[in-house]
Amino acid sequence: MRINISTVIDVLDIKNDKTPLLEQLNSIVKKYLYKTDIEGRLDTRIYQHSLRTMKYADKILKKEKADREIVLSALLLHDIGKTITDQRHDIVSYKLAKEILTKLEVDENKKSKILECILLHSSKPLNCLDLTIEQQIVMDADILDEIGVLTITKYCISKMNRNIDINFILKGLEDKYEEIEKEQMYLKTKYGLDLYIKKKKNLRSLIDNFKLEIEMFDF
Ligand SMILES: [Fe+2]
Ligand SMILES: [Fe+2]
Repeated sequence: MRINISTVIDVLDIKNDKTPLLEQLNSIVKKYLYKTDIEGRLDTRIYQHSLRTMKYADKILKKEKADREIVLSALLLHDIGKTITDQRHDIVSYKLAKEILTKLEVDENKKSKILECILLHSSKPLNCLDLTIEQQIVMDADILDEIGVLTITKYCISKMNRNIDINFILKGLEDKYEEIEKEQMYLKTKYGLDLYIKKKKNLRSLIDNFKLEIEMFDF
């Protein structure tokens, strides 16, 4: 399925974000993702996730004093390494992003800040280190999408497509919830943490209802 995705700028709905860097990065990331699919399609999973994290970051950025261009550029690029590997994709994303940013001749200081955000975005055990506000927003936005309805629904659909027992999906959801609970300690922005807690409550109630219906109908 080929889908039409609006530009990052349209998604964010902020005219000020029409910075040349973001626009350039957006078209490169799209082209790059096109290339990675053998059938010539966009790898929508990564691209859409990146756009959603940018949307979350946009909300956090309204409350925090941080460099928008660094945060949004890093989020656009943070998972491109997943097109190659799932293991240490942070390092692969960092390397790919470095190549891209070097070609675009981005200012050295900005480039290294964007790259650091990418490199640290999933380094949770190292998070005792003090992150800069930009690095923290990238981390929070990424975690927020993990607990999003879209991510959870996609997860359920992928299981259902393989015709897996409904109880297996429930077990998967419980595991996901447990994983999500552990992530809470890494959210440090107020907006990010508040939203995360709300989303966690919603997910708990969805799982409890899921359980109730399974018991009711004895699957
Ligand atoms: Fe990632
Ligand atoms: Fe991500």
